[in-house]
Amino acid sequence: GRYARLMLRSVILAASRSSQVERLVATAPFTRDVVRRFVAGAGTDDALRATRELVADGQAVTLDHLGEDTVTPEQANATRDEYLKLLRLLGAASLTPAAEVSVKLSALGQMFDEQLAYDNARAICVAADAAGTTVTLDMEDHTTTDSTLDILARLRKDFPSTGAVLQAYLRRTESDCRELAAAGSRVRLCKGAYKEPESVAYQSAREVDKSYVRCLNVLMSGDGYPMLATHDPRLIAIGEDRARWFDRGPDRFEFQMLYGIRPEEQQRLVGEGYTVRTYVPYGDQWYGYLMRRLAERPANLAFFGRALISK
Ligand code: FDA
Repeated sequence: GRYARLMLRSVILAASRSSQVERLVATAPFTRDVVRRFVAGAGTDDALRATRELVADGQAVTLDHLGEDTVTPEQANATRDEYLKLLRLLGAASLTPAAEVSVKLSALGQMFDEQLAYDNARAICVAADAAGTTVTLDMEDHTTTDSTLDILARLRKDFPSTGAVLQAYLRRTESDCRELAAAGSRVRLCKGAYKEPESVAYQSAREVDKSYVRCLNVLMSGDGYPMLATHDPRLIAIGEDRARWFDRGPDRFEFQMLYGIRPEEQQRLVGEGYTVRTYVPYGDQWYGYLMRRLAERPANLAFFGRALISK
């Protein structure tokens, strides 16, 4: 039951940090189908194609160029340049403002040079602004939260619509939501995807869900722009309820989901008149991302298993 699932989650998240397991998974014949379900493709053209399809379906998009564990300035600058290119192409194809970008500061150098990460993020904000769209900073493990929120505050001085991600599993998040629920701010609320110690994070699904609802209430009753990032039917229903209660129309909050997880539910929400944004990851460094998705949900693992067996 519950303990087996927690064990499984720990094992998968441990595997997500092992380069040996990565080599094994990357070369396995069944991997391609699994990756293709959750990742748009390796190249910028794949990202644009997926964006066009989603926008044609009435959705908004946020694009994430996959990459973490960046250890050199060259890697960090290459990631920045990929985002600059992507934003230029999105603008030229008139896919903005429907499409924006999501950025991991660790991929821009945060681990070894915070100033470099800020400079790179700022360059991406400049390009997004020129293309008529916005940037949202992804949130990674809890050791980076303060640094990421500091960089966010600096970026927002010139680019006030730069968005933050807050993770409901962290004990601090309800208070971070209060800080950020102010006019002009954009906050993406998710449960959180990393393995975190009990000292900083709620451990049980029930506690995380309750925290999500408290945070959602703070954001939906505040003055900012809430982005409810979840696939959880109970939390989506609560989001719909609060939208009615606080009289928030489709231009005053949105639902967000990850590419490939619940496409039918996204269509339903679009049909109901809500703003729905899909988070579209692309690039060849899909390993860490895929492992976090598999750790979240046994059914995703079963999909992985079926792909394995059918080969
Ligand atoms: P969870 O995974 O707990 O699922 C709850 C329930 O949803 C399931 O029990 C099931 O009922 C239903 N469900 C899930 N998948 C389903 C399916 N395929 N079909 C039917 N029902 C299904 N994390 C992070 O740490 N930092 C970040 O920056 C981000 N960014 C981000 C952006 C966006 C747009 C999203 C949607 C998510 C993130 N995340 C993230 C990931 C997030 O923290 C979290 O790990 C996942 O979204 C999974 O949590 P859920 O809220 O979806 O519920």
